[in-house]
Amino acid sequence: MIQLIMMETYQALSEQAAKIVANQIHQKPNSIIGFATGSTPLGLYETLVTMYQNKEISFSEIQTFNLDEYVGLRPTHPQSYFQFMMQHLFSKVDIKRDQIHFPAGVFANASRACLEFEEQLEQVGSIDLQILGIGENGHIGFNEPADAFTLNTHITGLAERTIQANARFFHDQSEVPRKAITMGIGNIMAAKKILLLADKESKSAALSALFSGTIDPNIPASILQLHPNVVVIVNKKIANYMKHVSNTLEV
Ligand code: GLP
Repeated sequence: MIQLIMMETYQALSEQAAKIVANQIHQKPNSIIGFATGSTPLGLYETLVTMYQNKEISFSEIQTFNLDEYVGLRPTHPQSYFQFMMQHLFSKVDIKRDQIHFPAGVFANASRACLEFEEQLEQVGSIDLQILGIGENGHIGFNEPADAFTLNTHITGLAERTIQANARFFHDQSEVPRKAITMGIGNIMAAKKILLLADKESKSAALSALFSGTIDPNIPASILQLHPNVVVIVNKKIANYMKHVSNTLEV
């Protein structure tokens, strides 16, 4: 079941998302939270840092699982998703370093690296709240369009459109890694609650697939229609471009 919330501005969208994350942690201080990278959740992370500074929230008991990492980038690489999370959230709040879980971007054995992350996920049971962005092509995490869904953590080639979209974080498009390690669709769907954020108009076609009534592995996010508890927060400017939208709540 997908609940759609439309917000007037990016800031309002970020604050609404932060309320949901904060409620989750207030209700269950040792929550398992799944984090996402990308520019969309930056406002959410900034709001969470402010809430922490104002002593409205503590992250000291949570465990974190990030969706994905570029293959070939060490955690110290400035463009690694690990650094992204450290820079924008983890180093600024009281999350304990040993409670942070990331798939490994550098490894000797690919299947072993995937299995290790799967084992860490299995040990915690399930993610309480998974934060997601969405790619222009409908990818979630780095689950790219394909003929079938991949359920577990896996190594994937990045779609050309994803490489182009993510080039803005690198000096040059040629520097964007061509592969990533990502949670699979089954891992994401196993989360108890999912919070998906979208701000840019370029995401409207992909977002429409969340309300189409059709599940299509070529638009991976469409699988979320089968999840019992998804909240999608979008900037109102996108909603005008989205098809099939019903069940809308304006805050
Ligand atoms: C990347 C990440 C996704 C993210 C997407 C959208 O490819 N792997 O998890 O949702 O980009 O990013 P942005 O929010 O910058 O548009």
